[in-house]
Amino acid sequence: MCGIVGYVGPRSALGVVVEGLRRLEYRGYDSAGVAVVSDGELHARKKAGKIANLDAELAAHPLPADGLGLGHTRWATHGGPTDTNAHPHVSYDGRVAVVHNGIIENFAALRTELGEDGITCVSETDTEVVAHLLAQQVAAGVDLADAMRLVCRRLQGAFTLVAVDAQGPRQVVAARRNSPLVVGVGEGENFLASDVAAFIEHTRDAIELGQDQVVVITDSDVTVTDFDGAPAPVRPFHVDWDLSAAEKGGFDWFMRKEIYEQPKAVADTLLGRHDENGRLTLDEVRISEEELRRIDKIIIIACGTASYAGLVAKYAIEHWTRIPCEVELASEFRYRDPIVGPTTLVVAISQSGETADTLMAIRHAREQHARVLAVCNTNGATIPRESDAVIYTHAGPEISVASTKGFTTQIVACYLLGLYLAQVRGTKFGDEIAALMGELATMPDAIARVLEGMDPVLKLAADFAEERVVLFLGRHVGYPVALEGALKLKELAYIHAEGFAAGELKHGPIALIEDGLPVFVVIPPRGRDMLHDKVLSNLQEVRARGARTVVLAEADDHEVLPYADVLVPLPQVSTLLQPLVATVPLQMFACELATLKGHDVDQPRNLAKSVTVE
Ligand code: M6R
Repeated sequence: MCGIVGYVGPRSALGVVVEGLRRLEYRGYDSAGVAVVSDGELHARKKAGKIANLDAELAAHPLPADGLGLGHTRWATHGGPTDTNAHPHVSYDGRVAVVHNGIIENFAALRTELGEDGITCVSETDTEVVAHLLAQQVAAGVDLADAMRLVCRRLQGAFTLVAVDAQGPRQVVAARRNSPLVVGVGEGENFLASDVAAFIEHTRDAIELGQDQVVVITDSDVTVTDFDGAPAPVRPFHVDWDLSAAEKGGFDWFMRKEIYEQPKAVADTLLGRHDENGRLTLDEVRISEEELRRIDKIIIIACGTASYAGLVAKYAIEHWTRIPCEVELASEFRYRDPIVGPTTLVVAISQSGETADTLMAIRHAREQHARVLAVCNTNGATIPRESDAVIYTHAGPEISVASTKGFTTQIVACYLLGLYLAQVRGTKFGDEIAALMGELATMPDAIARVLEGMDPVLKLAADFAEERVVLFLGRHVGYPVALEGALKLKELAYIHAEGFAAGELKHGPIALIEDGLPVFVVIPPRGRDMLHDKVLSNLQEVRARGARTVVLAEADDHEVLPYADVLVPLPQVSTLLQPLVATVPLQMFACELATLKGHDVDQPRNLAKSVTVE
């Protein structure tokens, strides 16, 4: 939600910032803007719409290439997506420029106060007040960094702020509270960004910032303090992927590339999970085994696709550990006064690690003394930093707004958690855990086989391009797969799609079935006859009422053939692991259908990758 870039160094600040914004555009694409300071003058350009509009504006009205700079790509919160509301916001005296991610909750009071000082805001944003407040301070002789600390102490809400002062020293100043910001450390140059993708082509050395910190970058230094000016601890880290991971590599969309990356992403997430004695280990666990043995309830909290990974996890974790496990939408969690305590393990699943709903939910859980374990794909993000334990999904950067490899690797990480808990609590024998790990190790190949057979799915998308409603059915772990298939179609193809528990259909939704309505049905493996046969009956029920059925089933499951208008064959895997293969054709179907409809697959309308507001 909003992408931010700042730069000081010998390169063209304009070039570095605009290229960085291009890599962050997935975070928001309602408007884009840049500001550079050159020879003591501030120059800014901004435009509603995608970065292409900013490019055109810069071509028509060029900016100096030297100096230092900052930029912003916006997902609108306060004020519509207009040129005026686009960032950067420049102060009343033209001296300070600011970009912002988050929401400043007390902006109305600050705006009134500025009005009393004769300063009128020209935009509808909550951000603009910060530019004026900073300018008032620097006009009074306060250094921009001190001004930032002072102003931040007055702000309520969530913010990453980056600012420049055209008449101050050669520096870019930033602050963060409840909103992401990382520093890229180069040689004779330094970077600020919402995530490392913005500067990965220049440096892979980064610094993770803590809560309520102000950072000043110059060509040669990075200085971090708290909001009172005291030196603050920081954590340097090295990014383990390179520029190629943040580029499309010949694919039309990042989404398609990321779908094809799933075998490797799953394999990487499984890598190095054993110690020298063959016991399972996780990435960072600051919860003792004794505490884990005392856990009597697990609550998984997540949003969107990550919550569907959580639903899959529930089946596996309960089955392997016998610990009761609930799954809850993070945005609902703290509002219902949930029953959590020291013996509750809250598992927060988040690809970005910055989703505000999930972050607020884990903070609530920790206040109630629950232990929190994060499943996250982003090193150094806020959610893992504020958790007691972390399992990283090593999927590499997920740039498409629609989550794909994020989802499958989250499921894998949750399987690892389930098996780890089973090991610690002794609910599975070592050889049983080893057998399940062995089966998991075959999943990258199984996913690769699914990806080799995508032609029928691509054809299906062409056949369904004009459909307005599509339903998805599944039972057991096939149910979250159905939900995920429907979400992908909604967010990419803008088609009304619903996922249902297959058995629930006859309690109402079956009334929707009419002649020719497309219904995808996820058929469980035949390993559990009862489950398989029940979904087979549900398939027959919708087929009998005229549905056009697309059946995802094991390749040699001949029982489904009489009821399948189209069969999407899946490899034989065990029931609990089937989501890893069954989701892939649904991802591809949505990607292809959206492509055929001429949509921007990587940046669907109204969405942003990382939702950092509640
Ligand atoms: O970064 P997170 O995993 O916390 O994001 C959660 C959801 O916003 C995300 O999965 C969203 O539903 C995706 N757009 C789905 O493709």
